Amino acid sequence: MTEIDKLLEKEYLDKNDLITLLNANKTEAEAIFKKSSEIKQQYIGNTTYFRGLIEYSNICEKNCYYCGIRKGNKNVQRYKVTKEEVLEAAKFAYDNKYGSVVLQSGEISSPAFTKSIAEMVEGMKELSNNELGITLSCGEQTEEVYKLWHEKGATRYLLRIETSNRELYYKLHPNDAEHNYEERLNCLKLLKKVGYQVGTGVMIGLPFQTIEDLADDLLFMREFDIDMCGMGPYIEHHDTPLYEHRGILMSKDERFFLSLKMVALLRILMKDINLAATTAMQTLDKLGREKAIKVGANIVMPNLTPVKYRDEYLLYEDKPCTTESPEECRGCLEVRIKLAGDDIGYGEWGDSKHFAKRTE
Ligand code: 5AD
Ligand code: SF4
Ligand code: FES
Repeated sequence: MTEIDKLLEKEYLDKNDLITLLNANKTEAEAIFKKSSEIKQQYIGNTTYFRGLIEYSNICEKNCYYCGIRKGNKNVQRYKVTKEEVLEAAKFAYDNKYGSVVLQSGEISSPAFTKSIAEMVEGMKELSNNELGITLSCGEQTEEVYKLWHEKGATRYLLRIETSNRELYYKLHPNDAEHNYEERLNCLKLLKKVGYQVGTGVMIGLPFQTIEDLADDLLFMREFDIDMCGMGPYIEHHDTPLYEHRGILMSKDERFFLSLKMVALLRILMKDINLAATTAMQTLDKLGREKAIKVGANIVMPNLTPVKYRDEYLLYEDKPCTTESPEECRGCLEVRIKLAGDDIGYGEWGDSKHFAKRTE
């Protein structure tokens, strides 16, 4: 039995175990992937759920050093999808039995933004006879705002911690009132308090990030007892401050492989959460999402943003699906998920089983 095999038999993995597992080479990692795939089969089954993604607006008040739509990037044409277009996209999701949509946006804190999101959530519930599940990913907000959106019918919220290492957080964000690590943590707590299924995630292969940091990220997610996770490789963007550190990055292959191990290990740690095969995974490997599904992911997000806006929501370079219509992304993902050996959970919400258990 190899050291990796022994670790995989352990009931409770600690930080050192995770570091060893994250350092596994390609041959050793096969055992990790086999284990995580079995756990997925056992706890989730071979169903992948669709979340139709609507990228509502690229207007953002923040200046995260890694992100292509940061406020400081003047080379982006700012847009806001109209309410009608959002509802049309949601209707497409409903008609195609996607089960759920994710409304994502650059971060804005204003009464107008709060109201727009609330109205769109309400509208999506109405047009779907209350049947569409709604996830929001609209950044840090006050408890009142989170409550309002929840009352209108959003039941899940995604807010990535980006990294659980406070020091690294400030190498990725300006150290100011708008980018406060404690505030980010507090928002995650508020989301739980309000009653959302809470999702978080991190970027993998960031400049200055160590394997220890990634082990801590996995432990953070277990300790915080998250319901959902979306994580993927960091991908450099030329119009961002972090680009100057591209020289110290791992190769794209290494970043992808490390991301795949992160997905598999999180599935081993948190057997019944919802775990996304992210678009960033596909950016670095043509079969990235399929591979993620095989090793434990059970969520994909077909893009529903009207095609005319897509080029302006480039958080990172080479983002896929910028020209494909919603129909094309649907067809494409159908084939890909079949190839990965899964069925698609059409017409189901596919809620986090972990959340159901946590709130029993
Ligand atoms: N590479 C990978 N992911 C990124 N994100 C933002 N910029 C990048 C990048 N350059 C991710 C962040 C954010 C999510 C919406 O997109 O994790 O939370
Ligand atoms: Fe804005 Fe999110 Fe990009 Fe940060 S990562 S600049 S909050 S869109
Ligand atoms: Fe959009 Fe494949 S999912 S083109």
